[in-house]
Amino acid sequence: MHGPNLNLLGTRELEVYGPQTLAEINEVIRTEAAAIGIDVDIHQTAREGEIIELLHGAIGDADGAVLNPAAYAHTSRAIADAIRAVPYPVIEVHLSNIHAREPWRRRSVTAEAARGIVAGFGAHSYGAALSLLKGMVQ
Ligand code: DQA
Repeated sequence: MHGPNLNLLGTRELEVYGPQTLAEINEVIRTEAAAIGIDVDIHQTAREGEIIELLHGAIGDADGAVLNPAAYAHTSRAIADAIRAVPYPVIEVHLSNIHAREPWRRRSVTAEAARGIVAGFGAHSYGAALSLLKGMVQ
């Protein structure tokens, strides 16, 4: 699941996020998921409530979720509570290393609820999180 502003990757803050578009990142995710035998369902939304509804909607359906909450990571107690409320593991990912950026990005309230976090590996952050999830649910 991709959060707000990630649809503008490829033109947004190129010096931070690089030139890959979200469509290209999704291709990397699909390729890396297929290589380890995982079915993925990919969503992007700017809306906090939709992230929460997607997390709820996956109950009974998904074995886990990989979530890049984008800036909601730094603000959203509601997404953090949704992560705590679902029965499956949620791994938080970030394209950039949020710990090497502005001080306000170094705290993620959603990561406090997540099983763990992968940050700083661009598109591969998602694939790494998927293989960690796979190891967890086997
Ligand atoms: C991001 C990091 C967040 O701080 C930022 O608000 C984003 C992208 C990342 O993937 O590196 O939108 O989640």
